Amino acid sequence: MAADRRLSIAPMLDRSDRHFRYLLRLISKKTRLYSEMVVDRALIHGEPSRHLDYHPAERPLALQIASAEPNLAARAVARALPWGYDEVNLNVGCPSQRVQRGGFGVVLMRDPKRVSEIVRAVYQETGVRLSIKHRVGLDGDDGYSFLARFVETVALAGAEVFIVHARKAWTRGLDPKANRSVPPLQPEKVYRLKRDFPELTVVINGGMTVQSFERQSSRVDGVMVGRAAWERPWSFAVADRLLGATTEEADRARVLSAYQQYLEEMRAQGVRLARLLKPLYNLFKGEPGGRLWRRRLHELAQGAQEPSADLLQLAPLEATREK
Ligand SMILES: Cc1cc2nc3c(=O)[nH]c(=O)nc-3n(C[C@H](O)[C@H](O)[C@H](O)COP(=O)(O)O)c2cc1C
Repeated sequence: MAADRRLSIAPMLDRSDRHFRYLLRLISKKTRLYSEMVVDRALIHGEPSRHLDYHPAERPLALQIASAEPNLAARAVARALPWGYDEVNLNVGCPSQRVQRGGFGVVLMRDPKRVSEIVRAVYQETGVRLSIKHRVGLDGDDGYSFLARFVETVALAGAEVFIVHARKAWTRGLDPKANRSVPPLQPEKVYRLKRDFPELTVVINGGMTVQSFERQSSRVDGVMVGRAAWERPWSFAVADRLLGATTEEADRARVLSAYQQYLEEMRAQGVRLARLLKPLYNLFKGEPGGRLWRRRLHELAQGAQEPSADLLQLAPLEATREK
């Protein structure tokens, strides 16, 4: 049933900030959104509102944390509790050298016991059941039994939601970008996980689009879309209908005027214009006028255009008259 299925937008550092999420929320009310990754210590020792503040409209919203220490993870999640996120997710998929040095991310797949301890500690301290985002394996640890043992162990500790990037990671020799395209996708392993652990919620990630949602529905519990959401945010205009909503599809002219209002509120709070414009660049990608739109946004961000310029006036006219 569509209502139980998850369609989500992936955590993406430097992309899925609150402004991108707000724009996506104007386009789809029901897609589940994820924050950028936040390291446990940044929440414990830093100014948490810098990482945690969001607009109430963004929900359903998940916070993604990175942690390798049960007690730090528990303290970080406790710190985030008052913000009322709908889900807290643990990053067990990132292969970057910096993340590896911290002992977080994909290298934790080799230590399911530690991940279990993190899941238990967070639950005991906060009552939050972490969801886990991981890969199908790493380096030579890439057999199905390695993956299944990881999931089984962590599920025994109480985790119920597993979001699986359907490719393995190489911890050496590939940077994070190459690690998102060079290792081939292995969706069959994710389907098999769902068959072997039917009681768990299994979401597939890697090379998905909004359109994949229906195709994947018979095999897994949902789809998480990363790059395609950034590249084609407007593709999510059909998402609510796929998720069973009967409300009207979003209209780009209305989305733009609502975003303009948001942009003005945020600017009044001191947020830089360039940061607020960044999520809009791909809104007309691949359509007539799409390049001109990007150029105009760029000029606006550089201060070459009137800062009070009306976004709607900059938009390709045909595309906003589509309805
Ligand atoms: C710019 C960028 C930043 C990312 N940052 C994170 C992150 O903070 N946490 C995480 O778990 N994955 C991160 N990822 C990985 C995505 O969440 C996703 O797993 C990956 O891009 C594969 O999905 P896709 O093929 O739909 O893009 C990032 C990906 C990109 C492109």
